[in-house]
Amino acid sequence: MIDLRSDTVTRPTDAMRAAMAGAAVGDDVYSEDPTVLELEERVAGLFGKDAALFAPTGSMANVLAVRSLAGVGDEVLCEASAHIVRAELGAHAALSGLTTRTWVGRPVEMAQIERLLATDMGPFFVATRVIALENTHNFGGGTVVPIEEMRAVRRFADEHGVAVHVDGARIWNAHVATGTSLGEYGACADVLAVCLSKGLGAPVGSLMVGSADAIAEARVWRKRLGGGMRQVGILAAAGLHALEHHMERIAEDHEHARLLADACGADPSAVQTNIVVVDVPDAAAVVAAAREHGVLVSAVGRRALRMVTHLDVSRADAESAASVLAKVLEQD
Ligand SMILES: Cc1ncc(COP(=O)(O)O)c(C=O)c1O
Repeated sequence: MIDLRSDTVTRPTDAMRAAMAGAAVGDDVYSEDPTVLELEERVAGLFGKDAALFAPTGSMANVLAVRSLAGVGDEVLCEASAHIVRAELGAHAALSGLTTRTWVGRPVEMAQIERLLATDMGPFFVATRVIALENTHNFGGGTVVPIEEMRAVRRFADEHGVAVHVDGARIWNAHVATGTSLGEYGACADVLAVCLSKGLGAPVGSLMVGSADAIAEARVWRKRLGGGMRQVGILAAAGLHALEHHMERIAEDHEHARLLADACGADPSAVQTNIVVVDVPDAAAVVAAAREHGVLVSAVGRRALRMVTHLDVSRADAESAASVLAKVLEQD
């Protein structure tokens, strides 16, 4: 099977497994795991922030990050198909008491953000505390949010005294696709959530990144949510290995994604990173037919088909998946 359902399906390479097996470990709830501490320091440094906190999932890193900026009854503005509102199963409402309002369209729609913002409206309206961005944008088809747009949001947020969260589950893909440094992205955000378990190919792990105070508070909340892990340096070692060895190769995933888009009759030049979303008459039927021919893809809407390239999809895999999909779509 060639698995294009997500970049979360990768298996650790032999070299990554060796790094995991040899990792120095300690009890991370006591902040005594040297490999976790090294990973947290490395990632904080990449984004130009004080500190970072290792979390089991991107969803938990998002919850910890957003709740460090807003409390019960506060409002987060984000795009309508952002992962935090569409795919975290109400976590920000259930666990942090947050409400959301959303804009529709591109990952950043400045005019809509300006219209939605509500501050200083007394006891009548929910107060906006956070603008949340997602880069790259998953359900937007892996689109990169250009750094100029992120800076515009940062400036606007500063003018109005609200904070900025960046869901950077795939910020590595944005960095590799554009050459924009991680530090430049970090400068636009108060806090970020970044994943090691997607484009970088680690089996588990995400981090919240932010100020020392935000991370200290998040450490308490991580434990409260059941995310206090112990000798977890074996997982942090996979993350350190991935940062060292799997960053540059992400460019290959982007090429493979363009190849798949082309085979599906979409414009390859519109594919910016490792996610391809194409419109088809019946997404479920295409998923079933492709599976028959050894290719796994996913339906992300009745008519929307998604393919994601990653570490475990070679050039040859991408080419054979492309020819299967071309045939299946011809018949659809
Ligand atoms: C943009 C984005 N943010 C957050 C997450 C959550 O990550 P996890 O599955 O590790 O909870 C995902 C997962 O695919 C994602 O695509």
